[in-house]
Order: sequence, then C-alpha cells, then structure tokens
Amino acid sequence: MAVVATQRDGDVAVIRMDNPPVNALGHALRTGLDKAFAEAIGDAAIRAIVLTGTGKFFSAGADITEFRSEAREPYLPQLIDKIEASPKPVVAAINGTALGGGLELALGCHYRVASPDVRQLGLPEIKLGIIPGAGGTQRLPRAIGVEAALGLITTGTFIDARKGLSAGLIDRVADRDVVAAAVELARAQAGKPPRRLAEKEIDRASLPAGLFEKARGAIARHPSGPTAPKAAIDAVEAATRLGIGEGCARERELFREAAASPPARALQYAFFAERQAANLPGIGSDLKRREVESVGILGAGTMGTGIAISFLNGGFPVTIVEANQEALDTGVGRIKDTLSANARRGRITEAQAADRFAKLTPSLKLEDLGKADLVIEAVFENMALKKEVFQKLDAIAKPGAILATNTSTLNVDEIAAVTKRPQDVVGLHFFSPANIMRLLEIVRAEKTAGEVMATSMAIAKRIGKIGVQAGVCDGFVGNRMLAAYGGEVQAMLLEGAMPQEIDGALEAWGMAMGPLAVSDLAGLDVGYRIRKERKLTGEAAQHARVADKIVEMGRLGQKTGAGYYKYDASRKRQVDPEIEALIRAEAEALQIKQRHIPADEIVERCLLRLANEGAKILEEGIALRASDIDTMYLNGYGFPGWRGGPMWQADHRGLKTVAERIKAYAGKYGARWKIAPLIERLAADGGSFAALDAKKR
Ligand code: CAA
Ligand code: NAI
Repeated sequence: MAVVATQRDGDVAVIRMDNPPVNALGHALRTGLDKAFAEAIGDAAIRAIVLTGTGKFFSAGADITEFRSEAREPYLPQLIDKIEASPKPVVAAINGTALGGGLELALGCHYRVASPDVRQLGLPEIKLGIIPGAGGTQRLPRAIGVEAALGLITTGTFIDARKGLSAGLIDRVADRDVVAAAVELARAQAGKPPRRLAEKEIDRASLPAGLFEKARGAIARHPSGPTAPKAAIDAVEAATRLGIGEGCARERELFREAAASPPARALQYAFFAERQAANLPGIGSDLKRREVESVGILGAGTMGTGIAISFLNGGFPVTIVEANQEALDTGVGRIKDTLSANARRGRITEAQAADRFAKLTPSLKLEDLGKADLVIEAVFENMALKKEVFQKLDAIAKPGAILATNTSTLNVDEIAAVTKRPQDVVGLHFFSPANIMRLLEIVRAEKTAGEVMATSMAIAKRIGKIGVQAGVCDGFVGNRMLAAYGGEVQAMLLEGAMPQEIDGALEAWGMAMGPLAVSDLAGLDVGYRIRKERKLTGEAAQHARVADKIVEMGRLGQKTGAGYYKYDASRKRQVDPEIEALIRAEAEALQIKQRHIPADEIVERCLLRLANEGAKILEEGIALRASDIDTMYLNGYGFPGWRGGPMWQADHRGLKTVAERIKAYAGKYGARWKIAPLIERLAADGGSFAALDAKKR
C-alpha cells in the first residue's frame, strides 16, 4: 500500500503520510514524500501545498528501527531542505503527534496549523541518547527563541497545540478540520514569497548572559547520560553562531557522535525492550481481553492508597475497603491530599482533582467489592490473612472478575489455591510509591489464564504503567535480584566500604540513589521483619548483623531521622560516625579484616551479582527475556536508562569476561558467587542475552 497519497483541493495539493502505526519516517515514507513534493512543485496547476498525517499521528519521527543500518537516500535533512526551498507555500496540517523528525518536517514547512487536540509536539531525541538530526536544533530556536528551544531539546518535553501556539511553534490552532484550515491558509499564501525559518536571523544580543554555560552546568546527572545533553547544547549554541547551512552541518556531526555512543545504544534498546515486554508468548492480539471498567481495592495503607490514586488518575471508579474506620479515614485523607497536591503543583486542574476524588467510594464492607471487574488486595503481608481474604473475595466477587494480590514476597499459587477460580488470580506487584513508580510486575501464577495476563497488561498501559511478566518465586524478578545486590552491599560494609562510599560509587556511576539511601527511604523495619521471619543462618545471618543492629537502635531510616545516615529537617543525608563505628565493631567481632574497597570494585560487584541472579531467573523461566529484566530495573529500581540495565551491561562487557570475573569472586568469597549455568554456557558459546532473546522472538 502506498505510504504517501496526494489529493487535489483545487489549486492546493494535499500530501498525506500514511505509514502505520506512527508515520515513522522510514525509507519508504521519505521516498514517497520526495516524489510527492517534486510532483506538486513541478505541477503548474498547483499553487500551494499542505502536508498532513493520518489518525492520531502527523509523524513520530525517524524510524528508530533503521538506526542500526546504513542510512539510505533520500535522507531526511535533505528532504526537509527541499520542502523548505519550495517556491510554493507549504503548510503543515498537524493532525496529531509530531515528534522528532516529524516535528522537524513541520518546521521545514512554511506555516504550521495544528488540530486543537494535539498533545505531543516535541523533540524527544534526547531520550534516545541522540539529538535532533534533521535541522531541529537550528530551526526550533528560530521558531520559538533560543532559551525555550534549549529547554525543549535538552529535556525532550512535549507541549500541546495551545502551548505551541503561544510559544510561536504553531501559527494557528484550527477550530474545525485541520486540513481544511491548512488549505485555506495555503491558498491565502499562494503567490506570495514563502516564510522560511532558515532565513530568519537569531538575535544574539538578546540572549540571556551565560545561557549555555548554565545549561552545561545543569546536566551533570541527566537521565540520558553525559553525551547527548552536551551535544544538544552545543548544537543549539551553533545555531546562534553559524548560518543555517553550517549550523545544520554541525548538528549532523554532533548527531553522529551522540548516535555512536554507548548511552544512545542503551536508551534505544530500552525503548524497544519496554514495548517488547507487552508481548506475551502465545497470547495474540485476537485473544479477548476482559472488560475492566471498575476497580476494588482491599487495604488503604501505603500501597492500597497509591494503587487507588493510579486508577483514579487513569479514569477508573475505585471502591476502597478497609478493616476499620480510622485506617479508612487515614487512607482516604492521603488520597485526597495527593490529588490536591497534584493540582497545586499544576500537574492536573482543580476540577480534575475533584472529579477523580469523586470517583472514589470508601467502605468498610467487603461485599462492596462484589461489582468490581478487578479487585486488588493490598492488606498486610501475611499468608494466613491473605488466604482468609481471598476465600472471602472468592465468595463475593462477580464471575469473571480478576482477583489480584499486591504481595511482594508470598506465593501467588498458594493464594490462588484457596479460591475456586485460580485462573482469575494474578499478582499485580506495584512499587512504592505506587502512584509514581512506572513498573508493574505482573505475576503469572501456575493457573492464571492467558486472558487475565493480557487484560492485566492492557490495564497497566491504561494507568500509565509498564507491565512486565514475572513467574512465581521468592521475590519474583525484581526483589529476588535486589536481595542478591543487597547481600553484596552488606558484605562490602563489613569488608570496609562505608555507606557513603557504596552509595557514592553507585550514584556516580548513574544509579538514581545508592542502595543504602534507598533502604533508609523505604524504611529499614520492612526488611528486618522479613529477616526475622526467615531465621537466617550462616553467611546470610552474618551479613544481616549491621542491618539488624541499626533497626534495633531504633533507627528505621528517614522516617525516624536516622538509619544508615542521619537526616536533618530537610531530609538531607549526613554521614554518621556512630554507624561507621558500628560497622567496624561488627567486622571485628566477625574477624573480618577491613580494607578500602575502590569505587570500581563496588560497582562491579553489584552489577555482577545482579546479572548473575538475573541469569538464574531467566533460566528458570521466571522472567521471559533478559530485556524484561532490564525494563524492570530501569523502571522500578532507579537503574539509569543510559546504562541499559544489568543484563545489557553484562552483554556489553562480554559474557566471557563476566564469567571470568564471577568465577574469580567465587574463588574469593565462595557460594554466594556461584556462577549461573546460563552465563557459563553462553560465555562458552560466544553467546549473549540479547541473542538469546532474539531467538525467542
Ligand atoms: N520509529 C519506529 N517505530 C516506532 C517509533 C519510531 N520513531 N515510534 C513508535 N514506534 C513503534 C513502537 O515500537 C510500537 O511498535 P510495536 O507496536 O511493534 O511495539 C508502535 O510504534 C506504537 O508505539 P507505542 O506503543 O509507543 O504507542 P504510543 O501511542 O503509546 O506512543 C509515541 C506513541 C509517543 C510516538 C511513542 O511511540 C514514542 O515516544 N515514540 C518515539 C518518538 C521519538 O522518539 N521520535 C524521535 C525519533 S528520532 C528522530 O526523529 C531523529 C531525527 O531527528 C532524524
Ligand atoms: P500497610 O500496612 O501500609 O497497609 C495495609 C493495610 O491493610 C492497613 O491499612 C490495614 O488496616 C489493612 N488491612 C489489613 N487487613 C485488612 C482486611 N482484612 N481488610 C481490609 N483491610 C485490611 O501495608 P503496605 O505497605 O501497603 O503493604 C500492603 C501489601 O503490599 C503487602 O502485601 C506488601 O507486601 C505489599 N507491598 C508493599 C510495598 C511497600 O513498599 N510497602 C511494595 C510492594 C508491595
């Protein structure tokens, strides 16, 4: 099917891009556009041209799948130059999302008219570790000003049609059919000299002093890593110093450098990994999803309230049930406060906050969950309680309702087994704070029906989460790996690395927060209770000593003002000599000779333990793909996107080296470093996790 079609509206040619799903500007679309513009420009009967898209997309930009192969002519920058050079006026009728190369294409047009419901206008290349490469860094500053363009390009923020209008990106927001409005503007401009952004001068004198230096100073911990943000600033600065031709050439150079960098490869991998996670083997798009229009939540504690807010934000009516009035009032108060705070901060309007809150029904009666299509249990982490609750839910829930547990450690098969409908039971493991964290681990129990998995995945998307399938085991995927990582951290404390050295090393490497700072934030009592229940022995018991003593000192983390660190009123962490002394004393009692552990070793040991546990999880079939594990770590555990994830890191170091290093540590530290057989096998065959994933597709 043709991806470009031209229609005539009298003397105006309307060129329409039709390359589903998102009008990505792949080779076929570029070729089609090149031809359609050449014909329209060469046709004496045509006096003006309109360019538009289809459905919800003008164009989502360059085809990311083509990034790994040699680019083929016609190249996008040249195509855009040709369109801009057209002697006949060209109007972009922006019918929907225009991102990256898609927005650059619109910037090459002489005028831009947008539909009022367009929400996504932007240059998000930075999120893929690259910069706009088809003139965006040169034309956007000319359209909306240097400072505003710098902001959009270095953050990848989207703006909507109205903001686009006030910024000067959009000339008109159509009050009716966008193509008709664009045709009208095109016709009015016919015969007049086109207005070209390339011909616009940038007024250097009006730039705020130190604009670029300040921007460079602000990118130290940019989520896209060190390369692309700097390249983006350099490219926009070039726009203020060079003419359009030279500026575009400089942009191209910077684009190539960024595109070849490891962060770009990691971020693009992460983009596709996230989308791949939604594909469940054996579950086609034809499998019927269950209708989920109402949600019930049991338990209005930390998680229940966060989960409720997620669903209210997603437009669902939510019934929340608690065991007693006081807990219900506290939970409902928390939901209300969070919605109000979101309105105060301008994330939503007051009316939206009120609307969402109005969709919440608090109750003390379990029977009130009888009409819900999906019920999520978030009561205390206790198997006897969960079983009791699921038996009751089984008795009252409507047929076909999905019964989900938010348990973080308990066996979902065991919970499902107390019901007469284990096929309807699934784990929906949210991460705290549930209304903010994007990861949703969807735990597939032995009998969970395929349609329940598919429906859960679809629901995740509807509430803005990234669903990833996990199987049943202790800790599922994410927390089981975290236990290995956390165990190594405790071992390193005893060996002589102080909390600030461990957190400092991992944060300097790119982690959002070091593991001990995270523990302080989450509360140290949770892990303490789990350890006590498990009655640890041997090395695990030794490694728990520091953590246990800290809790026994009454230091539960940030909420008590002290944990591994001390916290002042602003919750800023400070090194605490008391903790350093405690760690030294424990090491001495265990006769561990302490030493300085270099930052490189700290990072290496954490990454290797994560990948080794990940490989075991993969081999056991608990995770479907290595890329799923990475998606979890990037979205639930503060792993930096530009580092790709623990499995990606292992692949990129080379599994042969990874295997050697793990074995070396096993020689030194023993059983906890036992190598995953999968890594050993892949290393011997020259394989990789990525190649293994590809075989499964
Ligand atoms: N290239 C290739 N495929 C793309 C794509 C792109 N630019 N954008 C999206 N897709 C694919 C997705 O992989 C997905 O494919 P599957 O269904 O096979 O998994 C499909 O299109 C639909 O995408 P989503 O599931 O993400 O749909 P959505 O409606 O939730 O989101 C979106 C749509 C906002 C456009 C989102 O896909 C997105 O952010 N895409 C990336 C946009 C982007 O970064 N563009 C810049 C590209 S780089 C560039 O243009 C450089 C340059 O200057 C030349
Ligand atoms: P919480 O203690 O904050 O809340 C539990 C709530 O359940 C309490 O308000 C309690 O009154 C209520 N409750 C207890 N029995 C009930 C019953 N029979 N009927 C109705 N309500 C009842 O606990 P939290 O942290 O919200 O955890 C809930 C679940 O989520 C647990 O299974 C936990 O493992 C899991 N989880 C917790 C995470 C966290 O970081 N806190 C992260 C992910 C999962």
